[in-house]
This record gives sequence, C-alpha cells and structure tokens, in this order.
Amino acid sequence: MSGKKKDRLDKGAIVQKDRETFAIVPHLPGGLCSPEILHKIADSAEKYNAAAIKATGAQRLAIVGIKEEDLDNIWQDLGMKPAAAVGMCVRSIKFCPGTTFCRLGQQDAVGIGMKLDELYHGCELPSKFKIGVSGCTNCCAESWVKDIGLIGTKKGWKVVAGGNAASRPMIAQVLAEGLTDDEALDLIKRTIERFKKYTKPMRLGKLILEVGIDALKRELGVETGTALSEKIDTSKINEKSFSNINYGVYIAGSVKNGKSNGQIANTVFQVSDDPPTIAVSINKNNLTHEYIKESGVFSISILSEETPMPFIANFGFKSGRDINKFENIEYKSGITGAPIILDNALSFVEAKVVSEISVGFYTIFVGQIQSADVIRQGSPMTYAYYHNVKKGTEPPSAPTHRKEDLNKKTKGDIYRCEVCGYIYDPAEGDPDGGIEPGTDFKDIPDNWECPVCGVKKSNFVKV
Ligand SMILES: Cc1cc2nc3c(=O)[nH]c(=O)nc-3n(C[C@H](O)[C@H](O)[C@H](O)COP(=O)(O)O)c2cc1C
Ligand code: SF4
Repeated sequence: MSGKKKDRLDKGAIVQKDRETFAIVPHLPGGLCSPEILHKIADSAEKYNAAAIKATGAQRLAIVGIKEEDLDNIWQDLGMKPAAAVGMCVRSIKFCPGTTFCRLGQQDAVGIGMKLDELYHGCELPSKFKIGVSGCTNCCAESWVKDIGLIGTKKGWKVVAGGNAASRPMIAQVLAEGLTDDEALDLIKRTIERFKKYTKPMRLGKLILEVGIDALKRELGVETGTALSEKIDTSKINEKSFSNINYGVYIAGSVKNGKSNGQIANTVFQVSDDPPTIAVSINKNNLTHEYIKESGVFSISILSEETPMPFIANFGFKSGRDINKFENIEYKSGITGAPIILDNALSFVEAKVVSEISVGFYTIFVGQIQSADVIRQGSPMTYAYYHNVKKGTEPPSAPTHRKEDLNKKTKGDIYRCEVCGYIYDPAEGDPDGGIEPGTDFKDIPDNWECPVCGVKKSNFVKV
C-alpha cells in the first residue's frame, strides 16, 4: 500500500519510523503479567513476524513492526481489546511493588494502582495524562513527573499534581498529604473531573500554572495547608438538583484592542438595582475572559427563544481563538466599546467591571451597568427551554455543564457529537431534522447534521 500511514487509535496502534508498520502495546496494569499472557505476547510476536518486543517506560511490552492488516488478528490472538497507548487519554498508570513486594514500601501501591487502572485507563481527557504511584518517598514510579502522582508515607498518601517529563519537564506540586486510600482516590477523581473542564489540549501542569495551585486546591476542597479540609461528601450531592436552577441564554461580549469577541453564558444575574449591577461567571481559559480582564468592560445580549442552534454553537462551542465569531453577525459597539449583538437578541446591558471573584476555573465579573436597552419584543430563551425544547447541551468548560445520563435504557446504540456533546438516542430520533423516533444511527442519511451545533454525521462517535 502506498502513502505514509498514521497512528490507528481505534486499533491501539502506533505507526513506526518506517511509516508502514505499527507497534501495539498490550495493557499490563502496573507491568504485572502472568506467564500465560507472557506466552501469548511471545507467540503473537513470532506469528506476526514482529521486529521486536520492547519494554516501555510505562511498564508495558510493546510488540513492534506489525503490519496494518494483522492488527485485528493479533489483538484477537492476545485475547485483549486494543489498549490506549496513544491519544488524549489516561495513557498509563505506573505503579511500583509497594508494600506487596518491596521491603521499603509504606503504602499499598499495587492495590491503589490497580484501582486507578480500572477507573481511568483510557479515560478521555483534554490532553494525554499519566499517573504514577510509588509506595514510598524513593518514588520508583516517578510520581513527581506525572500529571498525578501518589507517594506513600507513614502517615498516608501524598498526592502531587502537574508533573511531566516531556520536552519541558515539570516537577509536580503537592495537592494534599496524609490521605487514606479512599481520600486519595476521591481527590484524584475530583482533579480529573476538573481537568475535563479544561478545553485546551495542554498538560495538567500548564493548567496549574495558569490557575495557580492554591486556586486549584480551593476548587478541589483542599486547604492551603496539608490534608483535605471540609472534604465534600459527593455522595450527598445529587447533581440532578442543579437542573432545577434556572437561567437564561446570553452572549457575554467584550473587546480588546478594537477586536470584539463573545461567548454564550447562562450564568448571568442582576446583583442589584441601585447601583444597577450585573454579574457573569466566565471560564478563565476563554478568550472572552482575556478580553474582559484586559478592557474591564462586558456586554450581555439576551437571546430570544427563536435563536437558531447554529448561532448558539458559533458562540458557545467555538472559541474566538480559532474563528472570527462576528463574521456575518449583525452587531454594534456599545458606549463601553463592548459588542452588542443585534441578531436574535431581545435586549442588552453593558457594564464596567467593579469587582472580580476568582472561583477555581472561573471568574465572576461584577459590573456596574452603563447602558441597557430593548431591541425587539419576544420571549427570552430560558435555560430550561434551551435544554428541553431545543435539546441543547453545553461544553464541559461551562460552569453548569450537565452530564448526560448514558445509562438510561434505550433500544439501539447511542451516539455523541464530538463537537458539542449532543446525544443521539435512536428511541427519540431527531424529528426536527427529519429523523423518525426509532431510527438507528447507521440508517440516518449522511447529509444529516447535528441539531445542536450543525456538524456532519461523521463527527459522531458511539458511546
Ligand atoms: C448553553 C451554554 C451555556 C454556557 N455558559 C457558560 C458560562 O456561563 N460561562 C462560561 O465561561 N462558559 C459558558 N459556556 C461555554 C462558552 O460559551 C464556550 O466555552 C465558548 O467556546 C468560549 O468562547 P471564547 O473562547 O471565544 O471566549 C456556555 C456554553 C453554552 C452552549
Ligand atoms: S518507591 Fe519505595 S516501595 Fe516502591 S519500589 Fe521504590 S523503594 Fe519500593
């Protein structure tokens, strides 16, 4: 076959230097391996004429030099699913022998490492992600240069975050100390959930540099001292309760060096009528955040129920860093210079920032209103309308992101739009898009588009 080949994520295969053959890396949690698996690896390498078997830095055995047409068969012979060797996910959980085998071990690195592997191996994230678990401060699993590291001490686990050993190495910073297994697992869970909200493809260490370790600790419920404080008992939080808090759907706009940007925000509320004051919560990674910080002004345009979903997708699922969101949009500059959207907006307010509150990944900008007016009559779009009638979703970077219930029973396979997170459920179909309830995803015509963000069918993945 001609042409240079690329990694095959679907087959857990990494293209080699020859751009023709692949390496696969069978999943061996913590490098632990039974004689039976070792035999299978050796037999398969022989059968498919592998160029080498290579022990990797992540305690795995790579079978190198496999032809593309043999990939399915070799995984079948190994009796394994393709492992997550590449891609934006938790790649490897490296752990040392800990108290199970090592005389120096202070904590059970194998036990917690196995649990972490079960929970997170292959879990999709904004960037590649590595975890290291060392049973004592000798750190044989290189915990200080992993995105999350655990280090066993007499008093429990020390959890460190933000390390990496890539081209620009970084040493992790301490998140908490003296934790039990359950506390450490809980903190890792919350750290990973927070990281999922991060939209840029950057390692956790870079994120910590941006938001600051203390802000991250506060966000995660860890006191700026040592052990977990006011630990949130997540079992007591039914997130469904949040869905009864209602909001509207707005465009928060701002300006920098004469350039406008805006984003969808639902977290807008009027704080006071005298002085007239409004607030909005904006993700620190967003371009709009950068603009508001720089100019100290922002506008809020209140959208009507009739606003088309592609219009919302333009402002709510794309970043002004990648596109000019104002192309083909009717708007004017307000007296503060912030953009006021005229398309689909019922009214607007514009404000000067008078105070900022940092809340983890978000800043609440409080602004004194400078001008406000009605553009046209109509019904403002509420958040409930957006979800229930428009079937809208929001990206994980939004403060009120709602996770889809993927466990609900339905007939047929569920697919998710990789761009906006919209879930295609065959039981519901997409009647507005001409797809009858009961239609399997594979039977939808190729020219069908995501009803939320308008991308093609090929952007959907099976859940
Ligand atoms: C319905 C909806 C509500 C949203 N609410 C907020 C919000 O309140 N705050 C926020 O920071 N992002 C929110 N977002 C996400 C931003 O609009 C999104 O991250 C946007 O791409 C940022 O664009 P920017 O980088 O050009 O500023 C929301 C998105 C949607 C679709
Ligand atoms: S980190 Fe400590 S417990 Fe783990 S292998 Fe090294 S010396 Fe042993």
